[in-house]
Amino acid sequence: MLRTHTCGELRLSDASTTVTLSGWVQTIRDKGGVLWIDLRDRYGITQLILEEGVTAADLFATARTLGREFVLQATGQVVERKSKNPNIPTGDVEVRVSALTVLNPAKLPPFLIEDETDGGDDLRMKYRYLDLRRNPVRRNLELRHRMAQQTRLYMDGQQFIEVETPVLIKSTPEGARDFVVPSRMNPGEFYALPQSPQTFKQLLMVSGFDRYYQIVKCFRDEDLRADRQPEFTQIDCEMSFVEQEDILQMFEGLVRHLFKAVKGIDLASVPRMTYADAMRLYGSDKPDTRFGMEFAELKAVHQSGTFDTVDLTSGKGFGVFDSAEIVVGINAPGCASYTRKQLDELTEWIKRPQIGAKGLIYVRYNEDGSLKSSVDKFYTESELKAWAERFGAKPGDLMLIISGDAAKARKQLNELRLEMGTRLGLRDPNVFSTLWVLDFPLLEYGEEEERWFAMHHPFTSPKPEDIPLLETDPGAVRANAYDLVINGTEVGGGSIRIFNRDLQARMFSLLGFSDEEAKAQFGFLMDAFEFGAPPHGGIAFGFDRLCSLFGGADSIRDFIAFPKNNSGRDVMIDSPSTIADKQLDELKIRTVV
Ligand code: AMO
Repeated sequence: MLRTHTCGELRLSDASTTVTLSGWVQTIRDKGGVLWIDLRDRYGITQLILEEGVTAADLFATARTLGREFVLQATGQVVERKSKNPNIPTGDVEVRVSALTVLNPAKLPPFLIEDETDGGDDLRMKYRYLDLRRNPVRRNLELRHRMAQQTRLYMDGQQFIEVETPVLIKSTPEGARDFVVPSRMNPGEFYALPQSPQTFKQLLMVSGFDRYYQIVKCFRDEDLRADRQPEFTQIDCEMSFVEQEDILQMFEGLVRHLFKAVKGIDLASVPRMTYADAMRLYGSDKPDTRFGMEFAELKAVHQSGTFDTVDLTSGKGFGVFDSAEIVVGINAPGCASYTRKQLDELTEWIKRPQIGAKGLIYVRYNEDGSLKSSVDKFYTESELKAWAERFGAKPGDLMLIISGDAAKARKQLNELRLEMGTRLGLRDPNVFSTLWVLDFPLLEYGEEEERWFAMHHPFTSPKPEDIPLLETDPGAVRANAYDLVINGTEVGGGSIRIFNRDLQARMFSLLGFSDEEAKAQFGFLMDAFEFGAPPHGGIAFGFDRLCSLFGGADSIRDFIAFPKNNSGRDVMIDSPSTIADKQLDELKIRTVV
């Protein structure tokens, strides 16, 4: 070994021993007669000291020529430091260097290898291997490693078997586009990279594996965001002979284990909410429940008819509300003091094309109990008081209301709620609020394509009691599907599966597949269902998302060693790239001009 100790290891108890360290030069302080070098490796930093007159002259001269990020091997005696550094574990000692080898010189790095760096995003991505030297980035990957180890520990303890499934497969419909790989041996034909191992894990259940999991790469050719990468990792799981409740319990167990083992947090049991309630109360199927500010409806229609809102707005001459399908708002606690300017700014914010609301109505509930709104012309104070009651507002609060088409208005108000939560400091990344969202609709209608789509995927089973609705009212059929949401991020999703060939065939036909198409694409799965498929279900967690949440960050990129940028490019290796004509010829996919 080129070292006896790491750079994070030495303590006062090691004083007077002779050690050899290897690492990178973090900083050099040259005080004329004394030279201090901070030597860094993955484990920490140790201070080296060289002194004119004490250190051999040629050694001292060599040390003066070193630069940042040089790779060194240094031997010397551990001594107690005169001025100690209480901020680092090795801060009581330094190594008095008696021999020094430059293992490799280094060019000046293009940005500072410090916790706070001066490097912009692009530069750090291009030199990702240097960025990975920085503590915060390395710590993220260490966290990821611990999460993976703890996941395996829990899953193994529950008798799950880790099985690898193939990467060169045929398209799995998870709703995104596939990445495809041409097959040289089968000209004109392509593999697809898996969007998830969905069909394989179901086949493993038919094989009798009973409990499967895999920490696995998935590939989706979709537009990128902070929480999306074209290749990402799932903790993919499947179980046989289970009902929804069994899955919820088992994986609540995993999440609680991870919180405890990795963060030392005892998680309370995960609350549950139906999809319908999540949409009604938050306008989102992944609500951030770290804070309240639930929606209050002043006028609404509810498809299910189970919830009735008395209309508090119509017939008072305010056409905007009269013609709206829904009038809905949130109560911002303590914001009655917002100035006109602040309200105008908020109105402009919600009218931006990304959100697209037509306008924003406000009602101030003043500290003196009076109410002042932007629609005073139409509504009396006692009518506004009834609104305030519906909002659960108190003096000092501000009600923010929008109206229009129900689905759009809810979506817009969801954005406003999140923004207000951020502005009011209610979204602390170190606070964790978990939620199971249950009873998703089985299908959603694509207006453009004029057909039904599977909301989760086509293998999800409808609730047995809703099966009769499949033909009469497909939109009302609920699925045995569930998502795990943490702090407003969809961390995982899964479902109980169809395991009956006829029902699966009916599903494909509802989704617009002809019998031939269904057979060509999924014949293997439907065939398998005829050879004794057990009832089964599962879930997959977005592992990168889980890691970034645990790390208190917004972007999953920081938790992936070599991520892609927002255009799906790896700017370090410069990929994707063109390939040689010879390769194109071999693959028979060259277009001859
Ligand atoms: P789903 O498509 O919901 O389900 O994916 C499961 C979880 O994977 C994460 N995820 C992503 N993370 C980063 N980048 C992406 N592009 C990305 N896409 C998805 C999310 C999501 O909750 N086969 C089913 C699971 C099942 O039914 O068991 C599936 O893949 O956190």
